[in-house]
Amino acid sequence: MKAVPGLQVAIDGPSGSGKGTVAALVGDAIGLPVLDSGLLYRFAGWRAQALGIALDDGSAVAAMLAEAGDQLAWLPGGVVQFAGRDCTSTLRGEDAGAAASAVAALPEVREALLTLQRTLAKDGCVMDGRDIGSVVLPEAQAKFFLTASRRERARRRWLQLKGSDHALSLDAVDAELQARDARDAARDAAPLLAVADAITIDSTTLRVDQVVDRILAVLARRKLLR
Ligand code: DC
Repeated sequence: MKAVPGLQVAIDGPSGSGKGTVAALVGDAIGLPVLDSGLLYRFAGWRAQALGIALDDGSAVAAMLAEAGDQLAWLPGGVVQFAGRDCTSTLRGEDAGAAASAVAALPEVREALLTLQRTLAKDGCVMDGRDIGSVVLPEAQAKFFLTASRRERARRRWLQLKGSDHALSLDAVDAELQARDARDAARDAAPLLAVADAITIDSTTLRVDQVVDRILAVLARRKLLR
């Protein structure tokens, strides 16, 4: 089962909806590269913070991204390298997530990352994020919107973090998630929303493989696999 050439699959949804895990499995199953656009926003926030750039200074963060572009590498398996060093686990941490949510509200940053995302996607990919179906790849042949209850999303995020050195309680993770949801949905620039042509899947009570199977079934039905 392989994707038809150039297939673009957009998977959007809030934090903890499972979109990253699902996107990786779908990409593997049909032989497409997987691009986690959240990592780009995480990189923007993390690097801005490291350089002492204010997280509300859109033109300074965009200028930083223009300079950093050459040193940023996207490797198979979702590994991000900056200046030759693997920074994936730092980017996946809570601090980078909070910084990402702040810079993601800035139109200059979204504009700077838009071109990069479209370039990365041009030969076909599964891309997950918040505005992939609406803004980044509006022509994608298949769009999905994953959701789950907030408590379930918080529980998944908490389980993920437990393995790292962050010892946050479930309630603390839930509160942080609530704040981030509110910021992501309320911002003027590309707020999180399900576009009309996206298929919504509520994963609260579904296993990952069940969500993946639903997506693959839609792709097969639309003759996007061969
Ligand atoms: O999915 P994530 O937690 O890695 O995303 C980090 C932040 O980046 C999140 O607050 C929303 C933002 N983001 C975005 O605005 N647009 C995207 N396409 C992906 C992520």
